[in-house]
Amino acid sequence: MQAMNFTSRRILITGASSGLGLAMAKLLANRDQADLVLVARRLDRLNELKAELEGSTGISCQVIAADLAKPQDVERVFTEATAAGEIFGVILNAGVTHFGNHLDMEWSAFEAMLATNVTSVVRLVSLFTPYLLEKGQGGGVMLVSSMAGLLPVPFQSAYAGTKAFITNFAQSLAEELRGQPVSITVFSPGGIDTAMTRDSQLRYFENTALLQDVDSCARDGLEAMRRRDGIAVPGLLNRAQLFATRLAPRKLITFITGTTYRKALKAGNGQEKTA
Ligand SMILES: NC(=O)c1ccc[n+]([C@@H]2O[C@H](COP(=O)([O-])OP(=O)(O)OC[C@H]3O[C@@H](n4cnc5c(N)ncnc54)[C@H](OP(=O)(O)O)[C@@H]3O)[C@@H](O)[C@H]2O)c1
Repeated sequence: MQAMNFTSRRILITGASSGLGLAMAKLLANRDQADLVLVARRLDRLNELKAELEGSTGISCQVIAADLAKPQDVERVFTEATAAGEIFGVILNAGVTHFGNHLDMEWSAFEAMLATNVTSVVRLVSLFTPYLLEKGQGGGVMLVSSMAGLLPVPFQSAYAGTKAFITNFAQSLAEELRGQPVSITVFSPGGIDTAMTRDSQLRYFENTALLQDVDSCARDGLEAMRRRDGIAVPGLLNRAQLFATRLAPRKLITFITGTTYRKALKAGNGQEKTA
């Protein structure tokens, strides 16, 4: 299958109101003149982005305010996006985390995380993949997972579980689709400097090499999707860490990660309970 060309294509991005999704939207508009479908809950932010990108680049943006934790909103995203014009690429990037003891997480917060990070993603992939196959334009889908989907992450236990689901789901589905003209890419960043890290005790890692700059991460993600990589981990440091974890016992890696995150929790007035 040929590499994708995003130029003047129409790409849907979930989680476009902030962080990685916002950075990918800007890059696609400014560099590729791609038309965009911007999805998130915060309509004001999406409308601001639409005005900025349409004004500066001449592309057209469709805004869909949707809470992807709600099944009816997920269905509406597909219906409204495809009714307004042909979609070529789909970037399923919206996600939430909980940093702290799993046992301190409200059950309702876990349910919302599962619905957003997992159920909405599987539903949208299940709707868009047959659609893209039928259109026959050689488009693709990218699922934004995390290195937390490749390794256990104490104090982000539920999040790591959701991302492990996404990683396995995407890689398995990609194999099912081998030889068909639609690619499935799973993008697995390490820490990124976004609201997800800044607005939590993960800001402990701010200004360290452990957080990747959001624009470079967005570039890496779009490049992986364009090349139709099955799985991509951006950044040399992340890839080196991943390689090291393959050489060491998983138990040791889990201990080291847990110790580091425990320190971050303590530094941020610790939500941690002593066991
Ligand atoms: N930051 C990191 O260190 C890191 C590392 C690896 C992977 N990732 C992954 O990268 C993706 C983007 O995260 P980010 O770092 O850019 O975080 P972010 O700045 O907090 O952005 C998250 C985006 O997801 C949207 N979102 C969250 N819940 C939603 C819901 N129920 N319905 C619709 N949209 C929802 C948010 O929009 P609204 O609030 O407006 O709805 C926002 O646009 C996530 O999948 C995350 O797991 C992040």
